[in-house]
Amino acid sequence: MRLWRQPQAHRCVTRLPPEPGAFAARIAAWQRVHGRHDLPWQGSRDPYRRWISEIMLQQTQVAAVIPYYLRFLERFPDLQALARAELDEVLQAWSGLGYYGRARNLHAAARELAAHGRLPESAAELAALPGIGRSTAAAIAVFAFGERAAILDGNVRRVLCRHRGIDGFPGLPEVERQLWEIAARELPADGDLEAYTQGLMDLGAAVCTRGRPRCNACPVADDCIALAEGRTGSLPAPRPKRELALRETTLLVLAGAEGVLVERRAPAGVWGGLWSLPEAHAQAAAGIAAACGLRLLGLSPLEPFVHRFTHFRLRITPLLGRCAPVVRVADSGPKAPDAPAARRWLPVAQIGGAALPSPVKSLLRRLAADGALGVDP
Ligand code: ADE
Repeated sequence: MRLWRQPQAHRCVTRLPPEPGAFAARIAAWQRVHGRHDLPWQGSRDPYRRWISEIMLQQTQVAAVIPYYLRFLERFPDLQALARAELDEVLQAWSGLGYYGRARNLHAAARELAAHGRLPESAAELAALPGIGRSTAAAIAVFAFGERAAILDGNVRRVLCRHRGIDGFPGLPEVERQLWEIAARELPADGDLEAYTQGLMDLGAAVCTRGRPRCNACPVADDCIALAEGRTGSLPAPRPKRELALRETTLLVLAGAEGVLVERRAPAGVWGGLWSLPEAHAQAAAGIAAACGLRLLGLSPLEPFVHRFTHFRLRITPLLGRCAPVVRVADSGPKAPDAPAARRWLPVAQIGGAALPSPVKSLLRRLAADGALGVDP
């Protein structure tokens, strides 16, 4: 049976919303035939698994998430295991997925929930936990508890903006209000709920894509306003670009025989809780090396680069310093101190697997590949 007609250019499309239930029924039917059914978190109603998967999927594509999800569950198979773990272990398991705030929030939420023993069972309560927004809470509640809750992530915003011909850009309060209203109104009856929710995600990921949407494979092309008006290329409207403030910083790349000196960042703020390079001025480098029992042999500036955060840009100037052991006159002399607790030597071979911010990891990988850190990675 054909569930949709081939779209025709300049078809007349009414601006009235589709018949109640019709939109959801087409998407759920399409998902059953064409959607994804073999993702590792599908087929499970385990709230913990659905929580971990939805958090990982927040800013990361499915293909990249799968191996992390599988390894994470092996290492932290349930809420108690995650709550018992040290933050460092969790960040380590997250290493490479990026947006480490997600891992910190997962860990904080697991500790908050450990006494209770399980995740709360409604979207409203889930949304009160760290790192779970309204849409993620709804997705967990649909897939784990069968709650009739509406999702609205980036992909779904695109599908709805096009289908309903919404002009403003997502993020504008009025557009958000409209989108949530449509998302809630189009929710199907219980039977179709899971297929519909997954279908919206699958449609956004595989058919109603940002560039070159495959409208001839779309189950709701018939009454898609953007398609009828030839506006799939311009909807959703892009968010106006604002120039982000530029901040500056210096990172010390102190390399010794045991690797590169890294220090743990404060729990709050940029790269909170991650290991990173010491953020300090050139004048402080010799003192930092000495505190770790090393002598700084020289310091040279490397090419600065700019890293974009959501709300600002950071111009980073790395300073590369080679370090050698302090020469002690006699064994009875004062012992060279070890790296203080918040600092440690990261062996060059472990850079790839360490929980470092991505621009720092890229910088160290580049330097290691160039032989600037002494040993090949
Ligand atoms: N993106 C967000 N949640 C998802 C899910 N459960 N399946 C596929 N893609 C997703």
